[in-house]
Amino acid sequence: MDFELTPEQKLIRDTARDFAQREIAPKAAELDKSGRWPDEIVKKMAELGFLGVAIPEEYGGGGLDAISYVLAMEEISAACASCGVIMSVNNSLFCDPIYKFGTEQQKKDVLTPTASGQKLGCFGLTEPMSGSDAQTMITNGEKTSGGWIINGAKNWITNGPHADTVLVFAVTDRSGPKVKHTAFLVPKGTPGYTQNARDHKLGIHAAHSCTIFFDNCKLGDDAVVGNPGEGFKVAMATLDGGRIGIAAQALGIARAALEASLGYAKERKSFGVPIAQHQAIQFMLSDMATELEAARLLTYRAALMKDAGVRHSPESAMAKLYASEMATRVAHKAIQVHGGYGYSTEFPVERHYRDARITEIYEGTSEIQRLVIAASTLSA
Ligand code: CAA
Repeated sequence: MDFELTPEQKLIRDTARDFAQREIAPKAAELDKSGRWPDEIVKKMAELGFLGVAIPEEYGGGGLDAISYVLAMEEISAACASCGVIMSVNNSLFCDPIYKFGTEQQKKDVLTPTASGQKLGCFGLTEPMSGSDAQTMITNGEKTSGGWIINGAKNWITNGPHADTVLVFAVTDRSGPKVKHTAFLVPKGTPGYTQNARDHKLGIHAAHSCTIFFDNCKLGDDAVVGNPGEGFKVAMATLDGGRIGIAAQALGIARAALEASLGYAKERKSFGVPIAQHQAIQFMLSDMATELEAARLLTYRAALMKDAGVRHSPESAMAKLYASEMATRVAHKAIQVHGGYGYSTEFPVERHYRDARITEIYEGTSEIQRLVIAASTLSA
């Protein structure tokens, strides 16, 4: 097994690290406090090609691989987890499925401006009464002559308040024993498309989300992504990729918490020595570093499988499950290393703790990841 990154992968990692540490990290506390949408950072991420990392250049992307995407995601998220998820949703949940399932026209008209970051995308699967059990959605797509009419609501839509287009999943066939779903591209501005005020959350304050409503939204047949009736598979295959992005976000959050703890442990003294010399602190730092590395390897493995074009549902689920719970554990220990200061908003680790928590919930809770892993291990 080759653990060495290619020169191209090292270059994107270093470019992302330099940009993230110079231009994002100094603003992260302010973004968390104000909840301001980081417009200038989103624009700069677009210029650097970070909004469509693994999309071919002919469709506005960076033409790189999934490992490069993971490397860039970790760096951006280490500086600011909100910026990380804005990037992840555009890459994994919007551009990736259009590239994989979209028509040539959709790739020209929608993918190209979104992968290049001139426009922003979001993903509408979750509804007020259907989250983990995604098939029970009630948003409806009715076939008309020459098109479709969409009615329903989607909530917790990350990037929703700022996105130009949403990839929406709706039930389009209730005639058989199993309902069938279809994926649609709905541009903001379509009559009947409205959204409410943004959500207020425990963390990732600068990554805005909202509920989007569809009231008799009329779409043409050209809005369908993939085949009608196969939308649930589009959603699931998309999440196989998305979960790698969230695992990488968790790596970034955990790394930031570990780095803050290492710095603090070398500076802060107790009982006459820097606390880094106490075994109690060393053991915590060692566990944090080991778990972070284990999560990184799981995430790289899932990304390698994605690049190889083989199905990677359990591998992505394992990466996301382990990395997200690891990030919470690492951020928890980071607060412990910092003592009272760790609980204060003067230090960054309380933010990392709040930001880590969402990685265990969105793009499938830890419990859903365990179901995906169980389905594969039990059938082996
Ligand atoms: N790839 C392709 N097809 C897949 C698939 C995959 N990874 N997983 C399942 N399918 C197919 C199955 O083969 C099956 O096909 P057939 O009907 O032809 O047999 C069909 O999809 C249904 O599969 P299941 O019977 O396994 O479906 P289920 O109803 O039992 O649900 C689940 C499975 C894993 C629980 C799924 O509902 C799930 O992942 N739930 C969590 C949803 C989720 O992650 N939501 C996150 C929202 S996005 C978000 O969070 C964005 C954000 O803000 C950042």
